[in-house]
Amino acid sequence: MGDKREISRRTFLNYALMGTGGFLAAGMITPMIRFAVDPLLQGHAGGDKVAVGSPDEFSAVPKRVEFKVHTKDGWYESESTLTAWVTKNDKGEILALSPICKHLGCTVSWGTGAGQPNEYFCPCHMGRYSINGEHILGTPPTASLDEYETEVKDGKLYLGKVKANPRPGVNG
Ligand code: FES
Repeated sequence: MGDKREISRRTFLNYALMGTGGFLAAGMITPMIRFAVDPLLQGHAGGDKVAVGSPDEFSAVPKRVEFKVHTKDGWYESESTLTAWVTKNDKGEILALSPICKHLGCTVSWGTGAGQPNEYFCPCHMGRYSINGEHILGTPPTASLDEYETEVKDGKLYLGKVKANPRPGVNG
């Protein structure tokens, strides 16, 4: 007959055990490697804009909107609720202001200051801002309220990242 190589029972068991062990090890190690490098490969998900309604809902009178943003920083993911004060002027231009006071970070509201119904007001130290977020000179804030990036698409208003408001201070 031909040259037939026999495999002993011991050799067969060694191969079987090595194969099974390798299979199990690969099953355990692959998810660990994926967990370790996955966030690095995916890049940042930040910068996504969030829909806050139809542009038709907004007018020259500031309207407060709340929206949720999902943040992913490496392995850390979180969801937070943000607020914006949104206006649309007679040219249809939309401005979405951050409510975070530029003095020490309290929250501003529209029209709540005594005697200033047409301004944003910060109750912490009587900070005041115009309807465009300009800080009123002579009050504690020294910068105008930040604004959100805005985009109108498919009949919806989207808000994005917060950016500095370039408007200078104005007299009250
Ligand atoms: S924190 Fe707003 S005026 Fe001081």
